[in-house]
Amino acid sequence: MWEYSDKVKEHFKNPKNVGEIENADCIGEAGALSCGDKLKLYLKIENNVIKDAKFQTFGCGSAVAASSVLTEMLIGKTVEEAKKITNKQIADELDGLPPEKMHCSVMGREALEDALKNYLGEDWGELEDDKETESPIICHCFQVSEKDIIDAIENKNAKTLDDITKLTSAALACGRCKENIEKILKKYTKKDPAALSPVQKIIKINNVVETVINPELNKDFGGIELVDVQNNNVIVKLTGHCSTCNNAKLTLKNFVETKLKELVDDQLIVSEE
Ligand code: FES
Repeated sequence: MWEYSDKVKEHFKNPKNVGEIENADCIGEAGALSCGDKLKLYLKIENNVIKDAKFQTFGCGSAVAASSVLTEMLIGKTVEEAKKITNKQIADELDGLPPEKMHCSVMGREALEDALKNYLGEDWGELEDDKETESPIICHCFQVSEKDIIDAIENKNAKTLDDITKLTSAALACGRCKENIEKILKKYTKKDPAALSPVQKIIKINNVVETVINPELNKDFGGIELVDVQNNNVIVKLTGHCSTCNNAKLTLKNFVETKLKELVDDQLIVSEE
């Protein structure tokens, strides 16, 4: 059985702001009865401030608790402040939800988004969570961005959806993000080196140098430039602090070559120009 916090239990037993608002300024809906959960959120807004919020929901105890706490969070907030509320904040306000129930907080966030989009129309603008991370959110239940997933693939050796879930928690709840995660996996997972043409191999090596290796070396004011690739021999030039560092040879073997073997082809040998 799932463990619920005292706050979840309290909001489920005594939900706040249940019902509908007559003459609401906007209404938002999320979920579907066919999926087992549905939420309708009503907002009364005066001078850009949410004066009242009520909800009607058909769903499990967590859906009731998430909707109830959301209405409490909303009352007194400006429209701009409300726009920034994430599903994680809804879950945090309840002292957490079991992973399998995080989708209830997502339903709250979606109903809020729907209501405010109806209220603001074209003034809705950009999604706050995408703006903050500068990378689209792929798993809304756990706020995992595209960048987090690419990082798991390129730097933590994730190869399957299961690996991504273990590393980031993405796809642990409702699973609606699975299809998009699979697409990212397909795009970024290392291809069988035998399937790469010589030109594709050079492009891939260069890409790893620029996006994985140099950002790390740059932290110590060093770097490398790719000079040539002859079969499996990668020839590089050391730049910045690396060009005068006594440990440069070790860095080439232990970091540069290791990364290229891991992310491109385990037959690669790196040497200095
Ligand atoms: S969006 Fe629900 S688990 Fe990812």
